[in-house]
Amino acid sequence: MRTETPQPVRLSDYTPPSHLIDTVHLDFDLQPGATRVKATLSVRRNGESDTLVLDGEGLSTHRVRVDGQDHPFEETAETLTLTGLPETFTLETEVQIDPSGNTVLMGLYMSGGRFCTQCEAEGFRRITWFLDRPDVLSRYTVRMEADTAFHHLLANGNLIDSGTLGARHFAVWEDPFPKPCYLFAMVAGELDALEDSFTTMSGRAVALKVFVDPGMASRAEYALDSLKRAMKWDEEVFGREYDLDLFMIVAVRDFNFGAMENKGLNIFNSSLLLADAATATDMDYERIESVVAHEYFHNWTGDRITCRDWFQLCLKEGLTVFRDQEFSADMRGHAVQRIKDVKALRARQFPEDAGPLAHPVRPSSYLKIDNFYTATIYEKGSEVIRMLKALLGDEGFWAGMNLYFERHDGEATTVEAFIQCFADATGKDLDAFFGWYEQAGTPKVTINRRYDAATGQLELTLKQVTAPTPGQPTKTALPLPVALGLLDEDGRVQAETQILVLDGAETTITLEGVKKTPVLSALRGFSAPVKLETDAPADHDYVLLAADTDQFNRWESGQRLGSRLILARAAGEPDPAGETRFAEALGRALDDQAANDAFKALLLSLPSEQDLAMEMQPADPAAIHGARDVLRGRLAEVLADRLIRLHDALAHAGAFSADAEAAGRRALRNAALDLLTARPSEAVIERARAHYGAADNMTDAIGGLNALIALGGEASDTALSAFHARWKHEPLVIDKWFAAQARDPSELALGRVMGLTTHPDFDAKNPNRLRALVGAFASFNPARFHDPDGSGYRFLADWIIATDKVNPMTAARFVEALGGWRRYREDLGGKMREQLQRIAAVEGLSKNVFELATKALA
Ligand code: TRP
Ligand code: ZN
Repeated sequence: MRTETPQPVRLSDYTPPSHLIDTVHLDFDLQPGATRVKATLSVRRNGESDTLVLDGEGLSTHRVRVDGQDHPFEETAETLTLTGLPETFTLETEVQIDPSGNTVLMGLYMSGGRFCTQCEAEGFRRITWFLDRPDVLSRYTVRMEADTAFHHLLANGNLIDSGTLGARHFAVWEDPFPKPCYLFAMVAGELDALEDSFTTMSGRAVALKVFVDPGMASRAEYALDSLKRAMKWDEEVFGREYDLDLFMIVAVRDFNFGAMENKGLNIFNSSLLLADAATATDMDYERIESVVAHEYFHNWTGDRITCRDWFQLCLKEGLTVFRDQEFSADMRGHAVQRIKDVKALRARQFPEDAGPLAHPVRPSSYLKIDNFYTATIYEKGSEVIRMLKALLGDEGFWAGMNLYFERHDGEATTVEAFIQCFADATGKDLDAFFGWYEQAGTPKVTINRRYDAATGQLELTLKQVTAPTPGQPTKTALPLPVALGLLDEDGRVQAETQILVLDGAETTITLEGVKKTPVLSALRGFSAPVKLETDAPADHDYVLLAADTDQFNRWESGQRLGSRLILARAAGEPDPAGETRFAEALGRALDDQAANDAFKALLLSLPSEQDLAMEMQPADPAAIHGARDVLRGRLAEVLADRLIRLHDALAHAGAFSADAEAAGRRALRNAALDLLTARPSEAVIERARAHYGAADNMTDAIGGLNALIALGGEASDTALSAFHARWKHEPLVIDKWFAAQARDPSELALGRVMGLTTHPDFDAKNPNRLRALVGAFASFNPARFHDPDGSGYRFLADWIIATDKVNPMTAARFVEALGGWRRYREDLGGKMREQLQRIAAVEGLSKNVFELATKALA
């Protein structure tokens, strides 16, 4: 255990900075093992104090000067204190840092022989002494000098000077927009660039450059194309224009997260930037499109308007996720996008909200802000904005958005100020709505129906309750929009979508003129991030699955039916007749000419084991896995002819296209194959082998590989070694090879995964590789992770402890998999808890892991 208990940072303790820093000049002498950083800051008092306390971490300080004179200072591991300071002054510091020894991947580090930076949230303090907080906005000038072997020298803003000095060269960059230091970025090294330009709505030409590993420029084409579409979309939909003459993106292999929105110089995990048909799956393409857009959209929601403090993180993240989801929906189809977004919310945010790590969209305290880049802040944060739009209507929403951009441009602001814009623009009282930012937990909404055929009245009683979460024993009702329509029992429309507002614990609404027995289609488009329960019979779900005009609810009713059948079987009460009926209904949905392939692929995939575990108390992963397999087998049997026909008919011919329609076709074909593997036979093995052998793109290759792994035996071993031999020089593809094995639910999988940790290609220092093996095992292999002997938990804990010494931020992300221990069968939960205790007891544990492990145990 740690000797001192770290003290949390609290929102209620916020005070403005003692000083402001108007301009920053940074001068880098770049050497991998010893980089000198000279900083010249123009500092101004922001209050009464003549004392300045700067943040720093791992800096070796060479000099501190105030107005040209050496100045006394007091240094601790994390602070530099100067006293007796004038009202305004120039502060010069000089420090030395070690980029090549930086395994934390925060601050300045080396990746693939190049210098790169990551400063959000608190990484800038690892580069120089500074007021490392987002409400200190400064204008930056950056001079970089390095060996000419580091061919490109990049930083934020515009290049204003460059030159060669023998074996060294330099560049000077100036960013005209004041920014917080977390948006600082710099890259130096050998890179290839893919270049283009974009003409903005006011006619300015912006140069676009995407930098990647030498020889990889063609793999940046999709990202560049996505960028141009995102720029156009933000002009057309949000009225936002880009503001610099240059926009750059750099891809790096070693990165803690997906990507980063540094002003004018976004830095990307290469897994979210590089794509071609041979090496990237359709899911990769989809994510590249959305993350490129996300980081670009941050230019306004994050960079131009930033956060006052890190408690306001959702101000930029929730809003920017909302923006990227809307963009993707416009690019790829609204219904399918919505289904995928809700699946992700349920898979990642609902468990968070139901466990010991539950926190509000705007938390009120933290030990390490790194731990709060969560699905709650991002995905639930987006849902809150979506509800705001539903409640205010389009006109009110856009009026509020425009007011926000007008009123707060150039500021570091708060969620209150954001919501106030919508209140001011519409005249509506949003005080109760603000509760969505302050209250954790997923509300459970129930709807009870009373229909009177004689009067044509349908009385709906809506209720909401939210279970207590850590630190919030009592909950209040939050205003939420319930989009709702009515069908009849033959699937004909009786009433179009309307939005009911549940703005208390309970409300009763009467719908008039309902002529026939109503089939309720409630929470259309998943209009609020809640769990819905109605008293409608399963028969109604069959009507919705066949005929609902709301595509989301069509899919949702199928999920509900599948979930009920699996959970019944897992509880020892199987309903074989129901399983057959469900299979037949899915078959009819597959025959629907009007539905697209991407949608049908989603219909065919049953709720995940993790989602099902959320519905079973206590959760029994083995029982769920078994019951789900039985239903898959039943589907494969009843639908066999259709699946084979689909698999044959959807085989593609001609040139590869990454567009949504072609991707949908591949998704459905792979989903068909996946289901067929639920009833193994020589014919299925042959089909899977042929599928894999004929694949001319990574989506089909992975689909074939997964099918062969599921079928097991020699065909699987052969495919795995062939795949490795073919792709051993492509790290992003080898990540997939590790992940495919980590997700294999067969009995021997953990042994194989453990073996893979000593494979020559396994590199625990690379977050992508670590996540591909250890992370994928813990998150996507519930059957093996929850092995009753506890070996899965022990394996994960071993890796959390080992990784913590190298990269605490990445180690901490793995803790969540153990966090839900109270929801599991007692023997399992006990073993999960034991491992958390083991982790929490480690000497010298990082704050990151300490915070999550102790909260998970509390
Ligand atoms: N702000 C980034 C985004 O959402 C993500 C981010 C936050 C990040 N902290 C990070 C990325 C640390 C890498 C490392 O777009
Ligand atoms: Zn973001």
